[in-house]
Amino acid sequence: MPGILLGDIFPNFEAETTFGTINLHDFLGDRWGIIFSHPRDYTPVCTTELGRAAKLSEEFKKRGVKMIGLSVDSAEDHNGWIQDIIAYNGEEPGYTWPYPIIADPNRHLASALGMLDPEMKDKEGMPVTARCVFIIGPDKKLKLSILYPATTGRNFDEILRVIDSLQLTATKRVATPADWKPGDHVMVPPNISEEEANDLFPAGVCTRQLPSGKNYLRYTPQP
Ligand code: BEZ
Repeated sequence: MPGILLGDIFPNFEAETTFGTINLHDFLGDRWGIIFSHPRDYTPVCTTELGRAAKLSEEFKKRGVKMIGLSVDSAEDHNGWIQDIIAYNGEEPGYTWPYPIIADPNRHLASALGMLDPEMKDKEGMPVTARCVFIIGPDKKLKLSILYPATTGRNFDEILRVIDSLQLTATKRVATPADWKPGDHVMVPPNISEEEANDLFPAGVCTRQLPSGKNYLRYTPQP
């Protein structure tokens, strides 16, 4: 299944995880979901990423997003590594790890989901997983995917910002500009006529004048 496209139903699968066997679609139920993959257990960048994701787990929960990590080692290895990540995060005794990590020792899932990075090999010469993010909507459709190489860690604050945009634009006919943050003005998409925009956005539409004279740069307060 390489190349899952935006709008495709995300393929269902069963996998061993640190929380037991998970059926993806059952696990997600009617919630949003995020799957983020990692090259290997006990590696430095991955440790910082999984630690940051754990620190932000309440933020994902507030947004109704179920989190799932994936790395190409066994659940037993993941459980050992999680203890390192908890220590790296400086958590207190009794802390509970917040999300499952899929075990994919044979790389079956990473390969099926197009996550492998053929340029980056482990000590045994096997390809490792790239840093892939899939965000899945409550309708099980793929809403966003990003793919970073193993050498570049992700920004999980940016991932939360993207989820805020995805959730806003799922219900309101707006688009979010570069560097948008919740509460900032949003943009009126080009497929909405001036008359319709005035009806849809009673808070007002402000059009920025540009040399072309084409009135396409239209802002409105976030509905
Ligand atoms: C890391 O997580 O630190 C890492 C893993 C594979 C290649 C490069 C870095």
